[in-house]
Amino acid sequence: MPILGQGASFLRALPRRYVHKQRRALSAVSSALPKHIEILGQQYLTDLTTNITPAIISKIPLRLHTQPSHPLSTLRNLIESHYPDFAHLSSLSPLVTPFKNFDELSFPQDHPGRSVTDSYYINKDMMLRTHTSAHEVETFRRGETKWLLTADVYRRDEIDGSHYPVFHQVEGARIFNADASGMKEVEEDNERLSLHLARSNIIIEDVPHISPTNPVQPSHNPQFSEAVAKNLKLSLNSLMLEIFGAAAGANSEEPLRVRWIEAYFPFTSPSFEVEVMFQGKWLEILGCGVVRQATLDTAGVSNKIGWAFGLGLERIAMILYSIPDIRLFWSTDPRFLSQFEQGKITTFKPYSKYPSCFKDVSFWLPRNAALHENDFCDLVRDTAGDLVEDVKRIDEFTHPKTGKTSLCYRINYRSMDRSLSNEEINHVQNDVVTRLRDQFDVEIR
Ligand code: DAH
Repeated sequence: MPILGQGASFLRALPRRYVHKQRRALSAVSSALPKHIEILGQQYLTDLTTNITPAIISKIPLRLHTQPSHPLSTLRNLIESHYPDFAHLSSLSPLVTPFKNFDELSFPQDHPGRSVTDSYYINKDMMLRTHTSAHEVETFRRGETKWLLTADVYRRDEIDGSHYPVFHQVEGARIFNADASGMKEVEEDNERLSLHLARSNIIIEDVPHISPTNPVQPSHNPQFSEAVAKNLKLSLNSLMLEIFGAAAGANSEEPLRVRWIEAYFPFTSPSFEVEVMFQGKWLEILGCGVVRQATLDTAGVSNKIGWAFGLGLERIAMILYSIPDIRLFWSTDPRFLSQFEQGKITTFKPYSKYPSCFKDVSFWLPRNAALHENDFCDLVRDTAGDLVEDVKRIDEFTHPKTGKTSLCYRINYRSMDRSLSNEEINHVQNDVVTRLRDQFDVEIR
């Protein structure tokens, strides 16, 4: 289950797969690991938890959301300009403690997001943030009451055209005084936003602001919580109109359709997800809710009540710019980068689609052992980088006599920028196979 909860993974196109969960997971042989690793100029001790790879470390300084004219930066600016009186933050380090990423946000101890198969750990005390919510407490503690925070986030995942282990999120939050002055502020804002939306070409499928299955928090005044949830919805409906209204309405009279769904997150209640109809399909865009009072208490602002949301930028940018593969965001090819201008959303013109090349690898796992798909994919990414378009498990069986399991993966190699020679791919594939044998002790078939 992704961090998002309820199997919803708006940031990623597909739900996560947990393979062979019931068996001992193979872990990479740690002797290959250096004692220290350097990240952003700092040295960190490694330990048995360490699973960050050089391929991931190399992405950390890039911060695509701050690169002028990059689609992710234009989209960030568009969202920021919709919230002109909010603080706009975008330079927080991705290295956080697991405490900050999970515990401070009331994640249960057994939440799958904490596992080394799902998240990148530098060591047991330091990880790469898996979501921008990791900064909620510190931002509230700084005294910010209306803020947006954009950042790179990291999750171990499968390989295909819409999944990449680094992606970008915008977190937004607004808190009010939990007294009559705050209630007045919410109600006035609700009136203003309702008027704005009533004049717009938008159809909203709503759910109740609070319900028995999506309850108001015990410490909250129900009317106040209701008004805050309403403010959250109005604010995000108007953001969706800003982002998608132009794109959806450009060539048609069709209204923008937005749908609200009840959700679950450890750090909000009630909680929701928002989907937007785009080219005939409902797309999950964001998660949000009324902030858990425990989070505000930890931040030292118990006298406030408010909402928060988190959205994934790549997903939205792929739609708005018609970018067909998530790897393109990382391309330094001028044929990609020169197509974009800061502040403008334009349709991406693919420069060429180079041929792909499939290579299969089959192997026996050691007896009673399992290999997590994310471990396999990280090995492939670390060896072949962005030359891999997708990875699929095409076969799995357990021998009836020996009890040993055999797996077969198909790796689809395709460069975004050039044709690959068979010789080059054979070389890369050989490296993948060698590392697989050395690190996971499998028997290649
Ligand atoms: N952090 C969540 C995720 O990635 C998204 C989210 C949900 C953010 C609810 C929020 C929130 O601020 O209130 O997967």
